[in-house]
Amino acid sequence: MCGIIGYVGSRPAEEILLSGLRKLEYRGYDSAGLSLIGDGEIRSVRAVGNLDRLEAALAGDAAGATATATLARPATIGIGHTRWATHGRVSEANAHPHYDSANRVHVVVNGIVENYMALRERLVSEGASFSSETDAEVIAHLIASAYRDDLAGTVARVLTELDGYFAFVAMTLDEPDVLVGARRECPLVVGRGADESFIASAVPAFLAHTRSVQLVENGEIVVLRAGEVEIRDGAGETMLREIVEVDWDEETAEKGGYETFMLKEIHEQADAVAETISDRTARGDGVDLADPLCFDEALLDGVQRVVFVACGTAYHAGLMGRYAIEDWAGLPVEVDVASEYRYRNPIVGPGDLVVGISQSGETADTLGAMRVARERGARVIALTNVMGSQATRECDGVLYTRAGLEIGVAATKTFVAQLALVYLLALRLAALRGSLSAARIGELVAAMRQLPQLIDELLDGLDARVDAIAEWCWQADFFLYIGRHAGVPIALEGALKLKEISYVSTDAYAAGEMKHGPIAMLDERTPVVAVATSSPVLAKVINNIDEVRARGAKVIAITTAGDDTVAPHVEDTIAVPATEPMLEPLLAVIPLQLLAYRIAMRRALNPDQPRNLAKTVTVE
Ligand code: F6R
Repeated sequence: MCGIIGYVGSRPAEEILLSGLRKLEYRGYDSAGLSLIGDGEIRSVRAVGNLDRLEAALAGDAAGATATATLARPATIGIGHTRWATHGRVSEANAHPHYDSANRVHVVVNGIVENYMALRERLVSEGASFSSETDAEVIAHLIASAYRDDLAGTVARVLTELDGYFAFVAMTLDEPDVLVGARRECPLVVGRGADESFIASAVPAFLAHTRSVQLVENGEIVVLRAGEVEIRDGAGETMLREIVEVDWDEETAEKGGYETFMLKEIHEQADAVAETISDRTARGDGVDLADPLCFDEALLDGVQRVVFVACGTAYHAGLMGRYAIEDWAGLPVEVDVASEYRYRNPIVGPGDLVVGISQSGETADTLGAMRVARERGARVIALTNVMGSQATRECDGVLYTRAGLEIGVAATKTFVAQLALVYLLALRLAALRGSLSAARIGELVAAMRQLPQLIDELLDGLDARVDAIAEWCWQADFFLYIGRHAGVPIALEGALKLKEISYVSTDAYAAGEMKHGPIAMLDERTPVVAVATSSPVLAKVINNIDEVRARGAKVIAITTAGDDTVAPHVEDTIAVPATEPMLEPLLAVIPLQLLAYRIAMRRALNPDQPRNLAKTVTVE
């Protein structure tokens, strides 16, 4: 996830910005840059790779990096950025800061401007000259074209033209003592010093200089001068905002105040879904997966069958893809664990669309399975979170999830982003095949666009609720997870999460399979977790719940808010907000991640680094 820092004060800004960017490195990045204003000039330096390369570029000795204007005196105002590529490849030109054609307005941006294509076309027709492939650059041009003499007022006007989820900080040569930040969904925080002010996407960026923090709320604009900060709402009214003193150490600050990266990442899932779906669902009522750099929708023409290959959690996303694609697009779907697929003799070829799902894009077995399919003539696409990863180089097209760097070893936010993306793929295939009406696709797209908000609603107070359940079951030495239909991948994923981070033995089954074996495991000591959200087979799930309870097992059910048919049959329920039945499983996995998490914490284990597991598995 990209990182932003801005500084205005009386000390040399370059050092402060660089050290701030170093504190944001944990978020992951592929390029970096900063811009400084001094003596009527802007100096801008950007480099691909790590911050050492940016530092070398600042010193004037890095190839593949650019630096403009050398300032006579050290600047005391500037902005910096670490970029995690989403729109546009990893390149110096795509690194931030971005600037307008006259090189007077510089911006650093996180998130996505959904309507950037239309804005870009308009700006180009008005004479703007773009130098990057990013969505972010439109903001610099929009500000420059609307600017008269007031940066803050201009930013307020420009905000009304932007659709999407983003945060940015802008500065202009015309007001060399002001930074203006704005946010919609993506975070921005302000740091207050005696005669200096900071703005960043996260507190660690300025923690070495100040612990006095102000939060910028959604839709607000913040105007920073040395030692002066004004926060305004969208209508331009000044907002009073408490200054909070944070007592976090550096590590806690990196975790955004959460006790672990896993918990932080669980709470970042609304963002991960929003970033993954936003611009792809922004035009009309449909889904647009095309990306001029990596995905040509012609790859989806005439597909006869879809095959998902993946490992672990990513495999569960593939299983969800099967339910969604069969149901919506009416296409046959096969799903296999990559380590099996690559060594079977898979019958695959032209007409098949093979999708390798891998958050890292480096998993050896998934790459192996993709290669086998490609050699046999199938079209192969990679669905991954990491730009430039190996999977993106061995395929015919790439669909990126945009969950940002995931540090916790157990996949959480990357999984919900994968689910969101396979749903979009299913909807796009449905549209191409005419298997759903445009109106129905519009309804499903609208429901998808609601998901980030529903995730936030669900997470509100959920941790404490789940912990109360963990309190009675954390010592159990075996858990069974059951579900049916699109609840099956979620039962499997919930069980995997628990065994990965708590080392508790789990099994997960399609509930209808229970009486063919696993029911023998059950007694009054066994917690059974049932995914019982809305589905065409909910009544059957309830029957299965009754069967396990008849063996004394205690049932925790994930239900749908407003449904009262499941609660009388179980010990405990956690309700997720109601939406389209096919989408509810994406919500249902969140309490299961937290249940695994709370059980691990009660067992005094570190969920960020489970034993024997690696984040990226590059060996088979
Ligand atoms: C589980 C987990 C693993 C990965 C698997 C595939 O929490 O993280 O099961 O899902 O190793 O990894 P990627 O997605 O990088 O191919």
